[in-house]
Amino acid sequence: MDILEQVKAYLKETKEFTTDKLDEVEAFRIKFLSKKSGTLVDLFKQFKNIEAKHKKEYGQLLNELKDSVSDKVEFLKQKLTQEKDTNQKIDLSLPYSGVETGSRHPVSLVRDEIIDIFLRLGYNISEGPEIEDDEHVFGRLNFPLNHPARDMQDTFFIEKNPDILLRTHTSSVQVRVMDNAKPPIRTISPGRVFRNEAISARAHCIFHQIEGLYIDENVSFADLKHSLLYFAKEMFDESAQIRLRPSYFPFTEPSAEVDVSCLLCNTKGCNVCKHTGWLEILGCGMVDPNVLESNGIDSNKYSGFAFGMGLERIAMLKYGINDLRHFFENDLRFLRQFK
Ligand code: DAH
Repeated sequence: MDILEQVKAYLKETKEFTTDKLDEVEAFRIKFLSKKSGTLVDLFKQFKNIEAKHKKEYGQLLNELKDSVSDKVEFLKQKLTQEKDTNQKIDLSLPYSGVETGSRHPVSLVRDEIIDIFLRLGYNISEGPEIEDDEHVFGRLNFPLNHPARDMQDTFFIEKNPDILLRTHTSSVQVRVMDNAKPPIRTISPGRVFRNEAISARAHCIFHQIEGLYIDENVSFADLKHSLLYFAKEMFDESAQIRLRPSYFPFTEPSAEVDVSCLLCNTKGCNVCKHTGWLEILGCGMVDPNVLESNGIDSNKYSGFAFGMGLERIAMLKYGINDLRHFFENDLRFLRQFK
Protein backbone atom coordinates (compact mmCIF):
# COMPACT_ATOMS: atom_id res chain seq x y z
CA MET A 1 0.00 0.00 0.00
CA ASP A 2 1.10 3.50 -0.77
CA ILE A 3 2.49 5.10 2.41
CA LEU A 4 0.03 8.01 2.24
CA GLU A 5 -2.83 5.51 2.11
CA GLN A 6 -1.23 3.71 5.05
CA VAL A 7 -1.27 6.92 7.16
CA LYS A 8 -4.92 7.55 6.20
CA ALA A 9 -5.76 4.03 7.36
CA TYR A 10 -4.04 4.68 10.70
CA LEU A 11 -6.00 7.90 11.01
CA LYS A 12 -9.25 6.02 10.49
CA GLU A 13 -8.17 3.38 13.00
CA THR A 14 -7.42 5.96 15.71
CA LYS A 15 -10.71 7.76 15.17
CA GLU A 16 -12.66 4.53 15.50
CA PHE A 17 -10.66 3.17 18.42
CA THR A 18 -12.52 2.68 21.67
CA THR A 19 -12.23 0.52 24.78
CA ASP A 20 -13.51 0.32 28.36
CA LYS A 21 -10.17 -0.77 29.77
CA LEU A 22 -7.54 1.70 30.92
CA ASP A 23 -4.64 -0.67 30.14
CA GLU A 24 -5.81 -0.93 26.52
CA VAL A 25 -5.76 2.86 26.26
CA GLU A 26 -2.17 2.78 27.48
CA ALA A 27 -1.25 0.08 24.94
CA PHE A 28 -2.82 2.19 22.19
CA ARG A 29 -0.79 5.22 23.30
CA ILE A 30 2.46 3.25 23.35
CA LYS A 31 1.77 1.72 19.95
CA PHE A 32 1.51 5.13 18.29
CA LEU A 33 3.40 7.58 20.47
CA SER A 34 6.27 5.63 22.07
CA LYS A 35 9.49 7.59 21.48
CA LYS A 36 11.47 4.39 20.85
CA SER A 37 9.24 2.15 18.80
CA GLY A 38 6.02 4.04 18.17
CA THR A 39 4.36 4.06 14.76
CA LEU A 40 4.64 7.83 14.52
CA VAL A 41 8.42 7.79 15.08
CA ASP A 42 8.71 5.28 12.23
CA LEU A 43 6.51 7.36 9.98
CA PHE A 44 8.48 10.55 10.65
CA LYS A 45 11.68 8.66 9.75
CA GLN A 46 10.15 7.89 6.31
CA PHE A 47 9.76 11.61 5.63
CA LYS A 48 13.04 11.84 3.73
CA ASN A 49 11.92 9.08 1.28
CA ILE A 50 8.68 10.83 0.33
CA GLU A 51 8.51 12.39 -3.12
CA ALA A 52 8.87 16.18 -2.90
CA LYS A 53 5.38 16.87 -4.26
CA HIS A 54 3.77 14.74 -1.51
CA LYS A 55 5.94 15.99 1.38
CA LYS A 56 3.50 18.69 2.38
CA GLU A 57 0.46 16.41 2.43
CA TYR A 58 2.44 13.70 4.23
CA GLY A 59 3.55 16.14 6.93
CA GLN A 60 0.01 17.37 7.46
CA LEU A 61 -1.33 13.81 7.72
CA LEU A 62 1.28 12.87 10.30
CA ASN A 63 0.45 15.88 12.46
CA GLU A 64 -3.23 15.06 12.16
CA LEU A 65 -2.54 11.48 13.17
CA LYS A 66 -0.47 12.57 16.17
CA ASP A 67 -3.23 14.92 17.38
CA SER A 68 -5.90 12.31 16.80
CA VAL A 69 -4.05 9.74 18.92
CA SER A 70 -3.37 12.23 21.76
CA ASP A 71 -6.98 13.44 21.77
CA LYS A 72 -8.34 9.93 21.85
CA VAL A 73 -6.01 8.86 24.69
CA GLU A 74 -6.93 11.95 26.70
CA PHE A 75 -10.67 11.47 26.10
CA LEU A 76 -10.74 7.76 26.99
CA LYS A 77 -8.61 8.18 30.10
CA GLN A 78 -10.86 10.88 31.47
CA LYS A 79 -14.03 9.00 30.68
CA LEU A 80 -12.85 5.74 32.24
CA THR A 81 -11.48 7.25 35.46
CA GLN A 82 -14.71 9.21 35.94
CA GLU A 83 -16.77 6.08 35.45
CA LYS A 84 -14.59 4.27 37.92
CA ASP A 85 -15.26 6.98 40.53
CA THR A 86 -19.02 7.03 40.09
CA ASN A 87 -19.19 3.27 39.99
CA GLN A 88 -17.44 3.17 43.34
CA LYS A 89 -19.91 5.62 44.88
CA ILE A 90 -22.82 3.38 44.10
CA ASP A 91 -21.12 0.06 44.68
CA LEU A 92 -23.98 -1.82 46.32
CA SER A 93 -21.71 -4.63 47.43
CA LEU A 94 -19.71 -2.40 49.79
CA PRO A 95 -20.24 -3.18 53.49
CA TYR A 96 -22.63 -0.89 55.43
CA SER A 97 -20.63 1.80 57.18
CA GLY A 98 -23.33 2.89 59.64
CA VAL A 99 -25.18 6.21 59.73
CA GLU A 100 -23.58 9.00 61.78
CA THR A 101 -26.30 9.86 64.23
CA GLY A 102 -26.31 13.01 66.32
CA SER A 103 -26.76 13.08 70.06
CA ARG A 104 -29.26 14.74 72.39
CA HIS A 105 -28.19 17.99 73.95
CA PRO A 106 -27.47 17.58 77.70
CA VAL A 107 -30.14 20.19 78.51
CA SER A 108 -32.70 18.13 76.56
CA LEU A 109 -31.56 14.96 78.32
CA VAL A 110 -32.01 16.52 81.75
CA ARG A 111 -35.33 18.14 80.81
CA ASP A 112 -36.76 14.83 79.57
CA GLU A 113 -35.58 13.01 82.68
CA ILE A 114 -37.19 15.58 84.98
CA ILE A 115 -40.41 15.50 82.96
CA ASP A 116 -40.43 11.72 83.24
CA ILE A 117 -40.13 11.82 87.02
CA PHE A 118 -43.02 14.25 87.44
CA LEU A 119 -45.22 12.47 84.93
CA ARG A 120 -44.91 9.45 87.22
CA LEU A 121 -46.26 11.63 90.05
CA GLY A 122 -49.33 12.52 87.99
CA TYR A 123 -48.21 15.93 86.71
CA ASN A 124 -49.00 17.11 83.19
CA ILE A 125 -46.87 19.36 80.97
CA SER A 126 -47.79 22.95 80.17
CA GLU A 127 -46.05 25.59 78.14
CA GLY A 128 -46.31 29.33 77.74
CA PRO A 129 -44.89 32.01 75.44
CA GLU A 130 -41.32 33.32 75.72
CA ILE A 131 -42.52 36.85 74.93
CA GLU A 132 -44.79 37.82 77.80
CA ASP A 133 -46.43 40.80 79.42
CA ASP A 134 -45.74 42.24 82.86
CA GLU A 135 -48.92 40.73 84.32
CA HIS A 136 -47.92 37.13 83.67
CA VAL A 137 -44.25 37.47 84.60
CA PHE A 138 -44.53 39.81 87.58
CA GLY A 139 -47.91 41.37 88.32
CA ARG A 140 -50.02 38.35 89.10
CA LEU A 141 -47.08 36.67 90.83
CA ASN A 142 -47.16 39.28 93.56
CA PHE A 143 -44.02 41.19 92.54
CA PRO A 144 -44.10 44.66 94.10
CA LEU A 145 -44.07 47.54 91.58
CA ASN A 146 -40.54 48.56 92.56
CA HIS A 147 -39.04 45.04 92.36
CA PRO A 148 -35.60 45.08 90.67
CA ALA A 149 -36.67 42.41 88.15
CA ARG A 150 -38.96 45.04 86.66
CA ASP A 151 -35.87 47.13 85.94
CA MET A 152 -34.29 47.43 82.49
CA GLN A 153 -31.01 46.36 84.11
CA ASP A 154 -32.36 42.89 84.81
CA THR A 155 -34.99 42.19 82.19
CA PHE A 156 -35.11 42.45 78.40
CA PHE A 157 -38.03 44.72 77.57
CA ILE A 158 -39.45 44.67 74.06
CA GLU A 159 -41.94 47.48 74.66
CA LYS A 160 -42.68 49.81 77.58
CA ASN A 161 -46.24 50.87 78.51
CA PRO A 162 -47.76 48.38 78.20
CA ASP A 163 -44.73 46.32 79.19
CA ILE A 164 -43.90 43.48 76.83
CA LEU A 165 -40.78 41.53 77.74
CA LEU A 166 -38.86 38.28 77.47
CA ARG A 167 -39.91 36.13 80.42
CA THR A 168 -37.31 35.96 83.16
CA HIS A 169 -38.66 32.73 84.62
CA THR A 170 -41.09 29.96 83.75
CA SER A 171 -43.22 30.92 86.77
CA SER A 172 -45.22 32.94 84.21
CA VAL A 173 -46.67 29.65 82.98
CA GLN A 174 -48.24 29.13 86.44
CA VAL A 175 -50.39 32.18 85.73
CA ARG A 176 -51.34 30.92 82.27
CA VAL A 177 -52.32 27.53 83.74
CA MET A 178 -54.44 29.12 86.48
CA ASP A 179 -56.14 31.19 83.75
CA ASN A 180 -57.22 28.05 81.98
CA ALA A 181 -57.71 25.33 84.58
CA LYS A 182 -59.49 24.85 87.89
CA PRO A 183 -57.88 22.92 90.78
CA PRO A 184 -56.76 20.24 91.24
CA ILE A 185 -53.76 21.42 89.22
CA ARG A 186 -50.56 19.42 88.90
CA THR A 187 -48.32 20.70 86.15
CA ILE A 188 -44.71 21.18 85.13
CA SER A 189 -43.59 23.79 82.62
CA PRO A 190 -40.24 23.48 80.88
CA GLY A 191 -38.93 26.38 78.83
CA ARG A 192 -36.38 29.00 77.90
CA VAL A 193 -35.94 32.14 79.96
CA PHE A 194 -34.01 35.38 79.46
CA ARG A 195 -32.16 37.74 81.77
CA ASN A 196 -30.05 40.77 81.14
CA GLU A 197 -26.88 39.20 82.57
CA ALA A 198 -23.24 39.40 81.53
CA ILE A 199 -22.19 36.02 80.14
CA SER A 200 -19.74 34.10 82.31
CA ALA A 201 -19.00 30.56 83.49
CA ARG A 202 -21.89 30.86 85.96
CA ALA A 203 -24.42 33.11 84.20
CA HIS A 204 -25.96 33.48 80.78
CA CYS A 205 -28.60 35.73 79.27
CA ILE A 206 -30.50 32.67 77.98
CA PHE A 207 -31.09 29.52 79.97
CA HIS A 208 -33.76 26.94 80.74
CA GLN A 209 -36.00 26.24 83.68
CA ILE A 210 -38.67 23.82 84.77
CA GLU A 211 -41.49 25.14 86.87
CA GLY A 212 -43.78 22.98 88.99
CA LEU A 213 -47.21 23.85 90.38
CA TYR A 214 -49.51 21.76 92.58
CA ILE A 215 -52.83 23.18 93.79
CA ASP A 216 -55.57 21.23 95.55
CA GLU A 217 -57.42 21.14 98.84
CA ASN A 218 -55.18 20.51 101.87
CA VAL A 219 -51.84 20.65 100.10
CA SER A 220 -49.16 21.10 102.76
CA PHE A 221 -45.50 21.93 103.09
CA ALA A 222 -44.92 18.25 103.95
CA ASP A 223 -46.28 17.32 100.49
CA LEU A 224 -43.80 19.74 98.92
CA LYS A 225 -40.88 18.31 100.89
CA HIS A 226 -41.75 14.76 100.08
CA SER A 227 -42.25 15.45 96.36
CA LEU A 228 -38.85 17.13 96.16
CA LEU A 229 -37.12 14.34 98.09
CA TYR A 230 -38.61 11.81 95.69
CA PHE A 231 -37.42 13.95 92.78
CA ALA A 232 -33.85 14.21 94.16
CA LYS A 233 -33.60 10.46 94.69
CA GLU A 234 -34.90 9.69 91.20
CA MET A 235 -32.78 12.34 89.52
CA PHE A 236 -29.46 11.92 91.31
CA ASP A 237 -29.19 8.84 93.49
CA GLU A 238 -31.27 6.66 95.80
CA SER A 239 -29.03 7.82 98.66
CA ALA A 240 -29.61 11.55 97.93
CA GLN A 241 -30.87 13.75 100.76
CA ILE A 242 -32.30 17.25 100.60
CA ARG A 243 -32.27 20.19 102.97
CA LEU A 244 -34.43 23.31 102.87
CA ARG A 245 -33.16 26.77 103.73
CA PRO A 246 -35.63 29.62 104.38
CA SER A 247 -35.70 32.08 101.50
CA TYR A 248 -37.89 34.70 99.86
CA PHE A 249 -39.84 34.78 96.59
CA PRO A 250 -42.73 37.19 96.01
CA PHE A 251 -45.06 34.41 94.85
CA THR A 252 -44.53 31.90 97.67
CA GLU A 253 -44.96 32.07 101.44
CA PRO A 254 -43.15 30.50 103.13
CA SER A 255 -40.32 30.11 100.59
CA ALA A 256 -37.25 27.91 100.61
CA GLU A 257 -34.15 27.11 98.66
CA VAL A 258 -33.41 23.42 98.32
CA ASP A 259 -29.98 21.79 98.44
CA VAL A 260 -29.20 18.22 97.51
CA SER A 261 -26.47 16.29 99.31
CA CYS A 262 -23.24 16.53 97.30
CA LEU A 263 -23.10 13.67 94.82
CA LEU A 264 -19.34 13.35 95.11
CA CYS A 265 -18.60 13.50 98.83
CA ASN A 266 -22.03 12.65 100.27
CA THR A 267 -22.08 15.72 102.62
CA LYS A 268 -18.48 15.26 103.82
CA GLY A 269 -17.29 18.32 101.90
CA CYS A 270 -15.23 18.53 98.68
CA ASN A 271 -14.24 20.95 95.91
CA VAL A 272 -17.50 20.53 94.00
CA CYS A 273 -19.70 21.56 96.94
CA LYS A 274 -17.11 24.11 98.11
CA HIS A 275 -16.69 22.08 101.31
CA THR A 276 -20.29 22.61 102.41
CA GLY A 277 -21.51 19.09 101.59
CA TRP A 278 -24.56 20.50 99.78
CA LEU A 279 -25.50 21.79 96.31
CA GLU A 280 -28.31 24.23 95.65
CA ILE A 281 -30.77 22.91 93.04
CA LEU A 282 -34.03 24.86 93.20
CA GLY A 283 -36.36 27.41 94.77
CA CYS A 284 -39.81 26.55 96.10
CA GLY A 285 -42.56 27.41 98.54
CA MET A 286 -46.27 27.41 99.29
CA VAL A 287 -48.15 29.46 96.70
CA ASP A 288 -48.85 32.85 98.27
CA PRO A 289 -52.62 33.28 98.88
CA ASN A 290 -52.33 36.63 97.06
CA VAL A 291 -51.25 34.75 93.95
CA LEU A 292 -54.14 32.30 94.22
CA GLU A 293 -56.62 35.16 94.63
CA SER A 294 -55.23 37.30 91.82
CA ASN A 295 -55.60 34.26 89.55
CA GLY A 296 -59.20 33.54 90.53
CA ILE A 297 -58.61 30.64 92.95
CA ASP A 298 -60.28 30.67 96.38
CA SER A 299 -57.40 30.68 98.88
CA ASN A 300 -59.69 29.61 101.73
CA LYS A 301 -60.50 26.39 99.94
CA TYR A 302 -57.27 25.68 98.09
CA SER A 303 -53.58 25.70 98.85
CA GLY A 304 -50.61 24.68 96.78
CA PHE A 305 -46.88 24.57 96.32
CA ALA A 306 -44.60 25.63 93.53
CA PHE A 307 -40.97 25.09 92.63
CA GLY A 308 -38.59 26.16 89.91
CA MET A 309 -35.17 24.94 88.85
CA GLY A 310 -32.53 25.77 86.26
CA LEU A 311 -31.91 22.95 83.78
CA GLU A 312 -28.33 23.96 83.01
CA ARG A 313 -27.57 23.97 86.73
CA ILE A 314 -28.97 20.45 87.15
CA ALA A 315 -27.04 19.27 84.08
CA MET A 316 -23.83 20.80 85.45
CA LEU A 317 -24.25 18.91 88.72
CA LYS A 318 -25.29 15.68 87.08
CA TYR A 319 -22.54 15.59 84.43
CA GLY A 320 -19.80 17.52 86.27
CA ILE A 321 -19.72 20.43 83.80
CA ASN A 322 -17.95 23.50 85.16
CA ASP A 323 -18.79 26.22 82.63
CA LEU A 324 -22.30 27.26 81.64
CA ARG A 325 -21.11 28.55 78.27
CA HIS A 326 -20.51 25.00 77.02
CA PHE A 327 -24.27 24.55 76.69
CA PHE A 328 -24.61 27.30 74.12
CA GLU A 329 -21.49 27.00 72.00
CA ASN A 330 -22.44 23.73 70.25
CA ASP A 331 -18.86 22.50 70.15
CA LEU A 332 -19.15 18.97 68.77
CA ARG A 333 -16.38 17.72 71.07
CA PHE A 334 -18.62 18.68 74.00
CA LEU A 335 -21.90 17.45 72.53
CA ARG A 336 -20.57 14.07 71.39
CA GLN A 337 -19.88 13.09 74.98
CA PHE A 338 -23.63 12.71 75.53
CA LYS A 339 -24.20 9.96 72.95
N1 DAH B 1 -38.91 31.73 89.51
C1 DAH B 1 -37.78 31.51 90.41
C2 DAH B 1 -36.51 31.93 89.71
O1 DAH B 1 -36.50 32.09 88.52
C3 DAH B 1 -37.68 30.07 90.80
C4 DAH B 1 -38.81 29.67 91.68
C5 DAH B 1 -38.68 29.82 93.05
C6 DAH B 1 -39.95 29.17 91.14
C7 DAH B 1 -39.72 29.47 93.88
C8 DAH B 1 -41.00 28.79 91.99
C9 DAH B 1 -40.85 28.95 93.36
O2 DAH B 1 -42.13 28.31 91.53
O3 DAH B 1 -41.88 28.60 94.17
O4 DAH B 1 -35.51 32.11 90.35
